Amino acid sequence: MMAVVPDSVLDAVPSLQFQLTDAVGAAIAAAYPEQAGADPLIRPSDHADLQVNAALALAKKVGSTPREVAERVREQLPAGDLISEAVVSGPGFVNLTVSDAALWRQVAARLANARLGVAAPETGRRTVIDYSAPNIAKEMHVGHLRPSIIGDALARVLGFLGSDVVRQNHLGDWGTQFGMLIQFIDEHPERPWRHQEVVGKDDDGDQASSVSALDGLYRAARKQFDDDEAFADRARARVVALQAGDEGTLATWREIVTESQYAFDEVYSRLGVLLTADDSAGESFYNDKLDDVARELEDAGIAVHSRGALVVLSEEVNGPDDEPVALMVRKSDGGYGYDTTDLATIRYRVRELHANRILYVVGAPQSLHFRLIFEAARRAGWLDPEQVEAVHVPFGSVLGADHRPFKTRAGGTVRLMSLLDDAVGAAAAVVREGAEIRGVGMDAADLRVIAEQAGIGAVKYADLSTNRIKDYVFDVERMVSFTGNTGVYLQYAHTRIVSILRKAAERGLTAPAGAPTAVGDLPLEPPERALALTLDAFGDTLVEVGATLEPHRLCGYLYDVARAFTDLYEACPVLASEGVVRERRLALCDLARRTLEEGLHLLGIAAPERM
Ligand code: ARG
Repeated sequence: MMAVVPDSVLDAVPSLQFQLTDAVGAAIAAAYPEQAGADPLIRPSDHADLQVNAALALAKKVGSTPREVAERVREQLPAGDLISEAVVSGPGFVNLTVSDAALWRQVAARLANARLGVAAPETGRRTVIDYSAPNIAKEMHVGHLRPSIIGDALARVLGFLGSDVVRQNHLGDWGTQFGMLIQFIDEHPERPWRHQEVVGKDDDGDQASSVSALDGLYRAARKQFDDDEAFADRARARVVALQAGDEGTLATWREIVTESQYAFDEVYSRLGVLLTADDSAGESFYNDKLDDVARELEDAGIAVHSRGALVVLSEEVNGPDDEPVALMVRKSDGGYGYDTTDLATIRYRVRELHANRILYVVGAPQSLHFRLIFEAARRAGWLDPEQVEAVHVPFGSVLGADHRPFKTRAGGTVRLMSLLDDAVGAAAAVVREGAEIRGVGMDAADLRVIAEQAGIGAVKYADLSTNRIKDYVFDVERMVSFTGNTGVYLQYAHTRIVSILRKAAERGLTAPAGAPTAVGDLPLEPPERALALTLDAFGDTLVEVGATLEPHRLCGYLYDVARAFTDLYEACPVLASEGVVRERRLALCDLARRTLEEGLHLLGIAAPERM
């Protein structure tokens, strides 16, 4: 069967950086044939559009000075209208200016393409992404924010780049705590925590959440378990019944899972995280595969017996005692745990899901765990590094104002929903104030919608724009600010462009589809060039995000776009200009708007039309 490739992918627009890499690469090959293939190292420049940095390293190899090399490369640059000026500068850079015609070709081609000219280099690769992974019967808390939204942003970006993305929500839905819960429910059959019972009953204005009720159940069960010896015994017997597959016990367990899934769905839909129940493959999903995983490891001689347990001893990592660290395949009581389940995930994802790449978006404290899992999977032959890439995608913690792990005033765990409520409340205040200052009316219903988009967007952007591996302080006021590198700033930039384009349409000015295909006689002004150049780098930025698995690079890029637009807007009249100049500026506005909208969408952030 022939794969169907959409036309718009075929029309991908290579960036100027890419084209210049080609052109300068050819010049290097012409000047120094034995150096053919050397990377010209085209980078952004403060003195021109882009610069060639390769001469410094090449000089050593060819036994010349960097300036001499730069000069010879410059002489060999191909004729044509791509480069309008090439100047050797400093110790041996070549500063490149692209022609207006070449720059405008990029703008026009991107505008004409539904994907903004972005290629799909991930086509044909299947990526399994394990992310979010909250625990059943407990409410999602601040610790689930990062794995949910970083994982979702990566899934969106890789999907946009053409990868076949398989989302896996590795729910913590199995373990001894369920004995206690199920026993408690059996003894309190009225089930006030059920979805139907909870929805609409919330009176303090918060979104009704079935899981906060489940959380209450969990705490009540835990308390009785700790206080009441006889109950604890009955609960332990329940664990045995659950593991033995007792139907009645399983039925109650399923009820809890279903209720929890409702609550997770509420959080996901509010957060704009694309996970659904269909993506759930929790720990219990692997139960019937664990015997086989253990047997395979044992038969291959990779798992060995140690004090009644079955373990895999690392050949790469030693513990503080200088002994190899161990993965627990089977405990001495015959039970399986977190390690075994993750050995099963990797085997399943390679063998059954046919992954080319498996990402585990899980906090940094689990680095050793995944290192050991990957090592064992390689030794077992499940993971052939030539065929499949397995990557732990770690991230730092969310901190409170005191720079310690984020807690409520009372020292408790912060519910994810209440954290979102706070952000939406703060966003409502700044949006209302902003509308008053600008003298635009906004009714309560509009305000509610916009505050939700701004507040949720602010939380997500603050998180995603931080270098993934770093910790950051959760500071609602800073997050919802209209100025600085915030989600609200980007959303607001988007609304300003929308409003320019709306006014243009009202006045019957050229619709964006009619963007001039040729740049015309008037030279582009510096802010126009700067915005056009920035917009040209969208696809390259996405490829970088895919390669590094770092969404903050997309955030930084979108911030550059918003600032370049603001610079243009402040320096160059758009609606008040005329003729081809106005058409060009409207076209740039349109491309900036679409780039911002697509970029925000790939981060899972709304791009409102007004705020
Ligand atoms: N539920 C786990 C936790 O809360 C995270 C699971 C991550 N995924 C995995 N395959 N281990 O820590």
